[in-house]
Amino acid sequence: MDRSLAQFLPLYINVTMSICTYFLTVRLIPRLKERFLKANLCGIDMNKKNFVKIPEAMGVVSGCTFLITMFLFIPIPFGDHIFNNVNFPHNEFVELLAALLSICCMMLLGFADDVLDLQWRHKLMLPTIASLPLLMVYYVNFNSTVIIVPKPFRAFFSLSIDLWLFYYAYMGMLAVFCTNAINILAGVNGLEVGQSLIIATSILIFNLIELSGDMWKAHQLSMYFIIPYIAASFALWKHNRYPSKVFVGDTFCYLSGMTFAVVGIIGHFSKTTLLFFIPQILNFLYSVPQLFHFVPCPRHRLPRYDPEIDKLNPSLTVFRKNDLNILGKLIMSIFKAFKIVQWQEDSEGVVTCNNLTILNFVLILFGPLKESTLTKILLIIQIAGTMLAFVIRYPLASIFYDV
Ligand code: UD1
Ligand code: MG
Repeated sequence: MDRSLAQFLPLYINVTMSICTYFLTVRLIPRLKERFLKANLCGIDMNKKNFVKIPEAMGVVSGCTFLITMFLFIPIPFGDHIFNNVNFPHNEFVELLAALLSICCMMLLGFADDVLDLQWRHKLMLPTIASLPLLMVYYVNFNSTVIIVPKPFRAFFSLSIDLWLFYYAYMGMLAVFCTNAINILAGVNGLEVGQSLIIATSILIFNLIELSGDMWKAHQLSMYFIIPYIAASFALWKHNRYPSKVFVGDTFCYLSGMTFAVVGIIGHFSKTTLLFFIPQILNFLYSVPQLFHFVPCPRHRLPRYDPEIDKLNPSLTVFRKNDLNILGKLIMSIFKAFKIVQWQEDSEGVVTCNNLTILNFVLILFGPLKESTLTKILLIIQIAGTMLAFVIRYPLASIFYDV
């Protein structure tokens, strides 16, 4: 067989299977809605006039079709070796299986979260545990924990540093970050899936660019995951976009975050993956005072709906200024100095401040917005983030590395 055809045949098959996955998922979701409602897996759409009950955790449907596609695809890249029965690449095979195990595990844990409504400390623990199978395979297959030091820092360090155990801690934390960062940039229709689709497409474009390079195998492996993921998630988006007919749940956020972390780790481009998370990083940094409870954090921080004008306003948290600890006071005074919070203080020291999410920040900047407009703005920010990421990854990378 022609070499390039043999090399890319699994990809063509993957694309064909993904198209089938899209059509299957887009039809399956509405059929399963009633079952989810009967099982009481539902949530109230808080940004609508007539508080409708919407089936929740529908990410489990797209997650299952994505995983089924991947399971059916497993033998395809190894077809040649299976038929000829020579030089079977056991290391590549186990890598694929471990990646799937981590994603599968994360979906299960996400579904458990949707059903049981877990506490925040569990949300941090779950991705760490789910990433263990993959880290174990990384250890057996590569165990490369050496990083190249960026040029400006080479005067202080050597050309490369072995991070040893810390590299594994970094990879575990990457999984924790990716899963939770998507989950906390949420609360308006279509945002969870929309941002995940943009991140996935960015990874796919990056893989396509790198397919002609030395690391083409790793990028091809990443594409095997990302293409069916995009197909299944796009089907979910069709039902989750404004006005939502289904909610995706933590199942989807965790599964997505884990998929991105997994392809970043097995594809050896975890830093580039993080670059596609610029809005999530900003949202996380802005949220730090509430996530670490320096400032009170209500159960829901999504924007506040005003039925009179059918628009969203920033949601608020109220507390006594004296109840903040030193760190809380310091961080909030920095935020106030940079004018990135809406801060009102009465004579008795009671403070009313916006919940610290970039959704609320956009509403402070632009004033009250329709829900669909807010989603669009946030998705545009996500696309702008991707463009910036490519500028940093390609033209600017030469400042830091010999490329
Ligand atoms: C995270 C956020 C929380 C935010 C919530 C909304 C943090 C620390 N946690 O919590 O502030 O309120 O996500 O997703 O930042 N919902 C809507 N419209 C939507 C999407 C969700 O009204 O478009 C509501 C529904 O009632 C749904 C619920 O949010 O049932 C889902 O919340 P859940 O995913 O359980 O919240 P967390 O992920 O814990
Ligand atoms: Mg959630």
